[in-house]
Amino acid sequence: MATAPVDKLLLSNIHIAVMCALLLFTRAKSVVESSSSSDPNSTVTSCIARERSALVGFKAGLSDPANILSSWKGHDCCKWKGVHCSNRNSHVVKLDLRGYGCDFIDETKTPVLGGNISSSLLGLQHLQYLDLSCNWFDGVQVPEFLGSLHKLRYIDLSSSSLTGMMPPHLGNLSNLRYLNLASKYGTPPYSTDITWLSQLTSLEHLDLSYVNLSTILHWVPVVNMLPSLKVVRLSVCNLRTSSSSLPLSNLTSLETLDLSSNSFHTHITPNWFWGLTSLRYLDISMNGFYSHFPDKIGNLTSMVTLDLSSNNLVGMIPSNLENLCSLEVFGIGGNNVNGSITEFFLRLPSCSWDKLSLLYLPSINLIGSLPTKLEPLRNLVRLDLSGNKLTGHVPVWIGKLTKLIELDLSYNNLDGFIGEGHLSGLESLERLFLSNNSIALTVKLMWVPPSNLTYIGLRSCVVGPRFPSWLRWLTRLDYLDISNTSISDTVPDWFWITASTLYTLNMRRNKISDYLPSTMEFMRATAIDLGSNQFNGAIPKLPIGLTDLDLSRNNLDGPLPLDFGAPGLIKLILFDNSITGAVPSSLCKLRSLRLLDISENNLTGLIPNCSADPSTTDLTNIVNLSLRNNSLSGEFPSFLQYCQRLVFLDLAHNHFFGTLPTWIGEKLPYLAFLRLRSNMFSGKIPEELLKLVDLQYLDLAYNSITGSIPKSIVNSKGMILTRVRYDDDDTDDDAAFQTAFGYGLSIGPNDYVAYTENSTLVTKGQERLYTGEIVYMVNLDLSCNNLTGDIPEEISTLVALKNLNLSWNTFSGKIPVNIGALVQVESLDLSHNELSGEIPASLSALTSLSRLNLSYNNLKGEVPSGNQLQTFEDPEYIYIGNPGLCGPPLPQKCSQLEPIPATQEQHEDLNDVASFFIAMGSGHVMGLWVVFCTFLFKRKWRIKWYSVCDKFYDWVFVLVYVVTWASWTRET
Ligand SMILES: *[C@@H]1O[C@H](CO)[C@@H](O)[C@H](O)[C@H]1NC(C)=O
Ligand SMILES: *[C@@H]1O[C@H](CO)[C@@H](O)[C@H](O)[C@H]1NC(C)=O
Ligand SMILES: *[C@@H]1O[C@H](CO)[C@@H](O)[C@H](O)[C@H]1NC(C)=O
Repeated sequence: MATAPVDKLLLSNIHIAVMCALLLFTRAKSVVESSSSSDPNSTVTSCIARERSALVGFKAGLSDPANILSSWKGHDCCKWKGVHCSNRNSHVVKLDLRGYGCDFIDETKTPVLGGNISSSLLGLQHLQYLDLSCNWFDGVQVPEFLGSLHKLRYIDLSSSSLTGMMPPHLGNLSNLRYLNLASKYGTPPYSTDITWLSQLTSLEHLDLSYVNLSTILHWVPVVNMLPSLKVVRLSVCNLRTSSSSLPLSNLTSLETLDLSSNSFHTHITPNWFWGLTSLRYLDISMNGFYSHFPDKIGNLTSMVTLDLSSNNLVGMIPSNLENLCSLEVFGIGGNNVNGSITEFFLRLPSCSWDKLSLLYLPSINLIGSLPTKLEPLRNLVRLDLSGNKLTGHVPVWIGKLTKLIELDLSYNNLDGFIGEGHLSGLESLERLFLSNNSIALTVKLMWVPPSNLTYIGLRSCVVGPRFPSWLRWLTRLDYLDISNTSISDTVPDWFWITASTLYTLNMRRNKISDYLPSTMEFMRATAIDLGSNQFNGAIPKLPIGLTDLDLSRNNLDGPLPLDFGAPGLIKLILFDNSITGAVPSSLCKLRSLRLLDISENNLTGLIPNCSADPSTTDLTNIVNLSLRNNSLSGEFPSFLQYCQRLVFLDLAHNHFFGTLPTWIGEKLPYLAFLRLRSNMFSGKIPEELLKLVDLQYLDLAYNSITGSIPKSIVNSKGMILTRVRYDDDDTDDDAAFQTAFGYGLSIGPNDYVAYTENSTLVTKGQERLYTGEIVYMVNLDLSCNNLTGDIPEEISTLVALKNLNLSWNTFSGKIPVNIGALVQVESLDLSHNELSGEIPASLSALTSLSRLNLSYNNLKGEVPSGNQLQTFEDPEYIYIGNPGLCGPPLPQKCSQLEPIPATQEQHEDLNDVASFFIAMGSGHVMGLWVVFCTFLFKRKWRIKWYSVCDKFYDWVFVLVYVVTWASWTRET
């Protein structure tokens, strides 16, 4: 959902791109009038020898792995593929070698040319048309010599991975009509001075999208020097300045202006483009333009396509939009209209109701119910109202939009039902998104849906209890999300045949009980989520292209497959089933695996030694490995030392034994979460372990660890700095971290299921399944071991700690005097040790504390009071078993006669705390500030964060006893 505006916009851009490609095509034909090779029999063109050798020289510089130029042999170069000669004089006038690099996704198999663009092309002095687009000239400079081919009228070098500085020599091409250097792939070219452009006075089409123009401030006057311009595309150019007006506009022919995805961050008016009344296509999306939707829109009366999406525009659209009688495509998604949908529709130009084909209106805070009448919009092809606040029923007029290809009403508060009446008329419908509403789908069992449906998103609608039998008529499904749709049924046999065409299948959170079919391996799927159902039986061989699989919370049993069948698996999530047997070594062969969660099963035996064969690089991409709650045994798995990207490791509640290896600290540099709770590990805490700078969660509780806490614990920055949420630093560290938690299953083009659901967390004396916040949990739990010695004073530097549990050990000495520096601590348990001395007064500085336990030590003196300490229930329990303690809330009074030597000490304590804050605080406050600023300014992240947030408090179970959560939950 969070990424929806951007992705959807891409879709709409694709739509537009198709239209433009068509335009381009026609233009290209007219640009080169004199060339013709479509009928080689008509004249006797034969190639000029000098030009032939120029072509041969050009070919020699190229690499051509796909053998695209196989026809480039023999004498008559006019017959070579892509070469076109003039009928009149046989000169080569056109070279069209567009590759397939823009159509194919797989770079390695794409038929493209590479290598160098040889200057021998200079031999083609009559060349008018040059198209080398969509090839892969990785890192080659945009050639200067093109500036000497004076007859050139058409240059397309787009998306061919050219780089470097844009050569000003192109300014010599006074005949140039068409220039496209848009560079979608590779390191884009740049320019620091585009004044040369102003010499191209015949230029009609200019596309410099993706070219880095960040240093150029006065680009508008340059563009304004070109009176013939019809098309200007400067999308993703890092432009930051615009001109407020053009008193003398030359751009009277300009029809298309694309300035999307720059960073103007300025008032939407005044702006020079509002004066361009010839415009038919204007895209200024994703630019940080702000203020109200401008009245000026009403003056662009020729407008056909208007895209203002993803800016910070507010308020209702202006009423003079009425003047736009040619409007076909209107996109304002991701702004903030914050008004009634009825009024919004009334302001759409009624004179273009029969022309409007695309309305892109997601996430603009529209409220109210869909109007009961909207019949005039009969030509709508795409309607996107997702992510608004619409309520009420879906009106039946939807069914009259017979040309609709995409209908997206997801993420609203719509209710009522949708039946055949709504859907049967939508004969063209390909994409239907109703997810996250309370809509019930009430179609008859025998209903035959529109046959072109390829994308269906019905998440959290009511579809069940019967499995939707109408799905069987759909033969070309790509995407199906029927998660959380109240289906309580078995899977009919035909479904797996229908589902075989799917790329994405999400049936999560239903009550579907069945075996997984043995034919699963023949599916085309890349992502399957069947989590939280009642599937049983064994896991069959998986589809060969599968990357993401979630079968968690089912009743699967039997062993893990010896051959998973899906070598490219990236995420494998199988927790909370009843899978038995050993972990097969086939798992080691999953080289792409980044997230493996097989916790809460009945797995037994040793972990296979994945690095047994040194020639393989098994599991080296793994970031999150969760084996919790099985009956696995053996020593700490030694192959993990080759898993350098590991961020999260959970071996808790198993039978592992032996010492903790010292290499953890050196070989796992990104490790942030280490949970070894409830095993039989022994020996000391290796000094090296605490050198892990990112370590923020260390749980060694319920083992047999001996020795003392190493002072090197001060190195754990993860316990000192509050983690900045969704940082955009592209450091390896953050990337790894986000892979571990941030991005879950890619379950569709716009959706992902965050993998944050399966982390138990022990704090405040209870272990519970935590659904997300663990990412931000800072924890040190060493309870129930045989640790001895002092609690090192250094522990009070770990100011990000939220949970500190050292109970049930044999710690002696005093409680560190600066313990009050742990301002974030919510739960502090030092009980059942041999601590002596007085309780430091600084403890009362712990304002976040909601659970404290100091019982069963040898503490003495007066119990500190104040702040949070006064708010605990059962205060006596906190101090029980310390006969030397006195003062309220304890019954024994401290003798007035006995001087309290602590008074002096207390002041020192507090001074220490204060100076500690001065020393530590600046960094800490800075950290919070960064978080705050991030939220303030990065709207995208804010949305993302909130959507993740929703899941945080979706607790699944609570163990042990309940304590107050007031400071912790945000539900109140
Ligand atoms: C060109 O001539 C050849 C042989 O004479 C013939 O087979 C072919 O159809 C002709 N092509 C066109 C486009 O007329
Ligand atoms: C309009 O274009 C012509 C031709 O390039 C140029 O000479 C003139 O300066 C331009 N006018 C403005 C206001 O830039
Ligand atoms: C719109 O155009 C009209 C007539 O061309 C003009 O009078 C008016 O000032 C323009 N409005 C804006 C907001 O520019």
